[in-house]
Formats: sequence, C-alpha cells, structure tokens
Amino acid sequence: MKQQPQHLFNSDVLVDLEKEQPADEKVAFTTGVSPSNPGANLLLRPLARDDYEKGFLQLLAQLTTVGEYPKEQFEERFEEMRALKDTYYVCVLEDTTTGKIIATGTLVVERKFIRGAAKRGHIEDIVVDSNTRGKQLGKLIIQTLRLLAKRTGCYKVTLDCSTTNVPFYEKCDFSKEDIHLMTKRF
Ligand SMILES: CC(C)(COP(=O)(O)OP(=O)(O)OC[C@H]1O[C@@H](n2cnc3c(N)ncnc32)[C@H](O)[C@@H]1OP(=O)(O)O)[C@@H](O)C(=O)NCCC(=O)NCCS
Repeated sequence: MKQQPQHLFNSDVLVDLEKEQPADEKVAFTTGVSPSNPGANLLLRPLARDDYEKGFLQLLAQLTTVGEYPKEQFEERFEEMRALKDTYYVCVLEDTTTGKIIATGTLVVERKFIRGAAKRGHIEDIVVDSNTRGKQLGKLIIQTLRLLAKRTGCYKVTLDCSTTNVPFYEKCDFSKEDIHLMTKRF
C-alpha cells in the first residue's frame, strides 16, 4: 500500500472551501479555477514533509533570501510548526506532471485576548513560480488562504506587501488601510 505523505495540517480543512465564500464575493477567476478545482494537473494541498525535494525552498527563494540548509533542518522546522496545532497553514500547489511545487502561501492563525479572545489571520510568503505567473494562481492561493482564515474562525486576515504588489492584492479583494508597517531589523 502506498504511504500517505505527512502533511503539516489536516487536508480536510481545505475541502469545499468555497462554502465559506460570502454571497457578495468580488473575486472572479477568468480561468475558471477555484480552491476545489485548481486546474489540470495541479494539486492544492498542505505542505508535506518531503516537499524539500520538490523545490519548495527554491520557490521561496524567488520571494526572498532562504539560504542553503540540509533536509534535516527543514524537517525540524516542519515538525515545530506541525506541533503548534491549528496555527501554521502552509499551502502549496504541486504540478503533478513534474512533481514540483509551483506556488505557495501561508496563513498563520494568531490567538488574541482582545475581541472576546478572537483569532486573527496573517498571510505570509506568497510566491508563484516565475514560469507560471499571470495564470491566476497567485489569486487562487490568496483566495484559499482567505477562505481558510474564515473557516478557522479569524475575525480578519491581513498581509504586508510592497507598493508594487498593491494592485495584485486589490484584485484579490484586499484593501489598503491607513496604517504603517514599522520595522526593526536584527
Ligand atoms: C505577486 C504574485 C504572487 C502574483 O501571482 P500571479 O499568479 O502572477 O498573479 P495572478 O495571475 O493570480 O494575478 C491576479 C490578478 O492580479 C493582477 N496582477 C498580478 N500582479 C500584478 C501586478 N504586479 N500589478 C498589477 N496587477 C497585477 C493580474 O493581472 C490578475 O488580474 P485579473 O484577475 O484581472 O486577471 C507573483 O507575481 C509573484 O510570485 N511575485 C514574486 C513574489 C512576490 O512578490 N510575492 C508577494 C509578496 S507580498
């Protein structure tokens, strides 16, 4: 019997995500894709422990500095995230013809004391492989994470981005707020 891949979170939470879609939803896909139907030969799923070998870090390197580190270190981080139940939702799109990860995005669910002990979603590390950009896959990842935020009970979901990416997120029905990102780098 074929062994099931070890996922970061239970993939059941991704099933029928469209049910979370509000009636006044403004996100439209010209290519007809959706989280339940990402397109031919594409699989939308949780990050798996063996994705180190499927180009996951090389894909992230198209977004920012990743650095080179061994598989063991990847697996250690993977297990740390997995142990923090219902917190890290790293989603990937796998091209099943090549076995490579071609897009990814993360939802982090933060627990708060405010608003009646609410949960807030943070979208992080969005990247689509440079060879497959412009096919609505970035939008698909954002839509997945946003519906996942709703399903996991977040009262809102936010993200940081550069000015150049604002139009992309506006297409995904996010809007700018009059706040500033303050940073102290170490
Ligand atoms: C930003 C990124 C994720 C977009 O992914 P993508 O798959 O190419 O985008 P999509 O095809 O899903 O685009 C969705 C919509 O946004 C528009 N769009 C995408 N990028 C845009 C940009 N930079 N400026 C204006 N519009 C943009 C598309 O035209 C499309 O419009 P439509 O729905 O009316 O057809 C991708 O370019 C990428 O990985 N960039 C490098 C990493 C990065 O910057 N990540 C974001 C970090 S905050």
